[in-house]
Amino acid sequence: MEESMTDNQKSEGQLHPDETTLAAESTQTQRSHNRTLRPTGSTFERFMLSGWGEEDNEVEPLESSRFVPDRLKALGAKFPGQRLIIPAGQAKVRNDDCDYAFRPDSAFAYYTGLGQDYEAGAVLVLNPVDPDSPEAKEGQTHTATLYTHPRSDQTTQEYYRSASYGEYWVGARPGLKGLAVMTGLHTADIADFDDAVAKNVGPEQGAVQLRVVRNVDPQITESVDLIRHDNGFSDDGKTQADDDAFYQATSVQRMLKDSYEVGEMRKAIAATKDGFFRMLTALPAAIGRPRSERILEGQFNANAREQGNNEGYDTIVASGAHAPTLHWMRNTGTIESGELLLIDAGVEVDSLYTADITRTFPTNGHFSDLQRQMYQVVLDAQQAGFEAAKPGATYSDIHKACMRVLAEALYQWGILPVSVEESLSPQGQQHRRWHACGVAHHLGLDVHDCSQARYEEYQGAALTPGMIFTIEPGLYFKENDMLVPPEFRGVGIRIEDDVLMTEKGPEWLSIGIPKQVDDVEKWMADCAAQANRAA
Ligand code: GLY
Ligand code: MN
Ligand code: MN
Repeated sequence: MEESMTDNQKSEGQLHPDETTLAAESTQTQRSHNRTLRPTGSTFERFMLSGWGEEDNEVEPLESSRFVPDRLKALGAKFPGQRLIIPAGQAKVRNDDCDYAFRPDSAFAYYTGLGQDYEAGAVLVLNPVDPDSPEAKEGQTHTATLYTHPRSDQTTQEYYRSASYGEYWVGARPGLKGLAVMTGLHTADIADFDDAVAKNVGPEQGAVQLRVVRNVDPQITESVDLIRHDNGFSDDGKTQADDDAFYQATSVQRMLKDSYEVGEMRKAIAATKDGFFRMLTALPAAIGRPRSERILEGQFNANAREQGNNEGYDTIVASGAHAPTLHWMRNTGTIESGELLLIDAGVEVDSLYTADITRTFPTNGHFSDLQRQMYQVVLDAQQAGFEAAKPGATYSDIHKACMRVLAEALYQWGILPVSVEESLSPQGQQHRRWHACGVAHHLGLDVHDCSQARYEEYQGAALTPGMIFTIEPGLYFKENDMLVPPEFRGVGIRIEDDVLMTEKGPEWLSIGIPKQVDDVEKWMADCAAQANRAA
């Protein structure tokens, strides 16, 4: 018997889910069925799929789409004859049927050029070309297809039934046609993925082998492993090692940024500067207020959402004794006048590139003599790191240059219990008690970009034009550190900037964000004046 909406409404509280309907719905929707009274009758279905006008769902080619072919070509050249599978990932459950906002995996974002929340469940496949084909003769190794879920628009029942893809729930999505326009890639229905990936797979000469970025989408990894087992690959250890090597290669490729990526990084840094401006403008009124670290965090994050996609990582607002906690993200502290305030924050723009900037401020707008002295040491260490960052040098060279300046200062303050040289020797390293973290890392789509690379490809590799990285020395004196004078305890200072290596040497990308002592004080005064004018 067909139910009308009125019947449904009358029988609220007695409805039982229709099994057929449930099977068609996502797990997510099933989980919430104990609290929805959505009608399931065919009258309702017909009603829901009729009476809709045209919808504006036009998309434009992304600027990144001009750069994607070269990225794919370089990857394909490393894995001729192999089918390469790069998933976007699935939405992560926050709790129950509520997901976190979706962010695609960075390898997927890089090779498709997609950003923002495009596109949960999608998978990029690079299919090896037939060696005798005209494409192969032109030097092409692979053709790319982006598999994705078709639109669940007002012509499909999923429109209102699927909380994951239904456009009633999630708004208009680009689907196959839209993603093809945005990326310039050939697109296909994700329903065809398994058959397409299984084609000609086998261990024999001339057959196709699969490589998958395996830690991103468990459903895709399972499908690929199943196809391998069904086609003569039984050594899981070997296939997983091959997958890891593939993932590592994608990570290494991202070390050299193309001109589009450099432009996106400049945008991320400019938006981050605006976020710092907003925080400094809010600072005078926040001093002494409970949880005022969060007042500033809120200012930065609001700007990140306005100007970009999000924060690139959880914003660190660490005042006073919180500052020596390297990953202070709780931000529940009260900012007091006269302390130092360490803020580590970055805007991730819509293309998903993020800045990573740290500044340390005197909360009352003026460094005390000791604060200035300590701050200047960190600044000098950073400058030494910058000067060591020449093309051909390594991250280790940056690290050593920064550490020497810090160790010398710690010695002069009478804190270092050994000589500078003994501390800098591999057996010593006593200065690292006050700087236990790294001093530089690649930056791009991920805040700790290219992290799958091996040591010799990363720490030990030559700095090369096109690389973007941070230089971020600091000094961290815990509140209960009995090995330092009392006035040093509970102080943390970090200065972190983003650098592009060029043929001519390193360029401070974030040079526009003040950090010299006088410039910081002037910037704070300008922001305080701005806050006064607005009040
Ligand atoms: N914000 C994380 C880092 O500086 O590495
Ligand atoms: Mn960093
Ligand atoms: Mn940082």
